[in-house]
Amino acid sequence: MLNAEQRAIIKATVPLLETGGETLTTHFYKMMLSEYPEVRPLFNQAHQASGDQPRALANGVLMYARHIDQLEQLGGLVGQIINKHVALQILPEHYPIVGSCLLRAIEEVLGKEIATPEVIAAWAAAYGQLADILIGAEESLYKQKEEAAGGWRGTREFRLARREQESSEITSFYFAPVDGQPVLKAEPGQYIGLQLFIDGAEQRRNYSLSALCDGQEYRISVKREEGGKVSSYLHDELVVGDTLQLFPPAGDFTLAASDKPLVLISGGVGITPTLAMLEAALQTQRPVHFIHCARNGAVHAFRDWIDGLAERHPQLKRFYCYAEDDGAQKADAVGLLSQDLLGEWLPRERDVDAYFLGPKGFMAAVKRQLKGLGVPEQQSRYEFFGPAAALE
Ligand SMILES: Cc1cc2nc3c(=O)[nH]c(=O)nc-3n(C[C@H](O)[C@H](O)[C@H](O)COP(=O)(O)OP(=O)(O)OC[C@H]3O[C@@H](n4cnc5c(N)ncnc54)[C@H](O)[C@@H]3O)c2cc1C
Ligand code: HEM
Repeated sequence: MLNAEQRAIIKATVPLLETGGETLTTHFYKMMLSEYPEVRPLFNQAHQASGDQPRALANGVLMYARHIDQLEQLGGLVGQIINKHVALQILPEHYPIVGSCLLRAIEEVLGKEIATPEVIAAWAAAYGQLADILIGAEESLYKQKEEAAGGWRGTREFRLARREQESSEITSFYFAPVDGQPVLKAEPGQYIGLQLFIDGAEQRRNYSLSALCDGQEYRISVKREEGGKVSSYLHDELVVGDTLQLFPPAGDFTLAASDKPLVLISGGVGITPTLAMLEAALQTQRPVHFIHCARNGAVHAFRDWIDGLAERHPQLKRFYCYAEDDGAQKADAVGLLSQDLLGEWLPRERDVDAYFLGPKGFMAAVKRQLKGLGVPEQQSRYEFFGPAAALE
């Protein structure tokens, strides 16, 4: 537990974190990833290069310092962090490494005049407290996943059962466990962790489950990223029969039980978790408006499948918007999704549950538009295919 003096020191550091948090976390990651090769495979190097992960960590530390007196007000942040950690198998033994590098980074970035022994001691206590909260919450999730039907802890070997091309750049991969036993039924919207060894180097990535889990296998649908290590490997190298290790499904961007009309809005490969949500929602009576934006018809995945569902389920209305008309398939609108267009495609009654995912700019626009159209903010949920970021 932190004493009152330590809490005051932490709060006094908030302005420094507001201005210099990213410098601090960038320095921290450089130091940790060069000195501790054992934690390197846990981190996606692209998120380091783009600065997205240092920014996400800086924001996490800042929010923690701001709420040091009322940790319960951290709200969804802890849930988001622990799910990400669990899906990448972050373990208690990793915490002292992060802790010692963070304290050294504070000292080196702020300088010994500001980072006095008292400041370092306060931050050491604060880090210890947060680490205990995260380790405890992560352990209960690991345990829950291990004990659930079809569940497991750590890695489990899966075989690629089949693969299907869904568009010019998205392919689905179906994974079945090598042990032939059932698998944990993920909630619609959750993602799994893949552990792969590519050219001798370990890589870990998360992928949303793009189909409702039947308890036998998992499906993911992956967009080929130009220069992307794992997506290129999956597209170009992984053949039916190959094996890889999966971590159990996790994630808190899940379809909450509700009778309200459901609005699913996606851009590009952000469609994946909304497919599992759509399947689940169609097992109930609730109306569903499925809105998908793609660059053009050639890259639009799952169109025939959604169209088929719409024919069989009158409760489903679907709308497609293409940034450009490539002549391949007709969309309901061409151009970028505007607030007016979204307004036409939403149910007239705005008391809806909305879930959206796509590129960051797209998500920022959708968030703003939903608010402008009167959808209550707490009923508008989203997730990132990478480190969380501000959507302003
Ligand atoms: C919760 C979650 C769910 C996700 N679900 C899906 C999904 O359903 N489908 C899907 O396709 N993706 C999904 N993703 C994204 C996925 O995890 C990968 O990030 C994505 O496939 C790219 O990985 P990669 O290894 O192919 O590319 P990376 O190797 O990570 O590279 C990504 C980009 O960064 C560039 N890059 C890499 N290293 C550097 C460097 N050092 N300097 C500069 N540039 C660099 C690459 O050229 C490339 O353009 C999800 C992510 C999360 C967090
Ligand atoms: C108190 C300690 C920690 C805090 C506050 C913290 C915070 C965070 C935050 C805010 C994110 C981003 C979450 C998101 O975007 O959804 C994250 C992701 C992550 N964390 Fe932690 N973390 C801590 C400890 C650790 C430890 C000990 C490790 C392992 C060495 C670790 C590894 C990771 C990884 C691998 C990711 C995903 C990175 C990526 O996508 O590139 N974290 N953490």
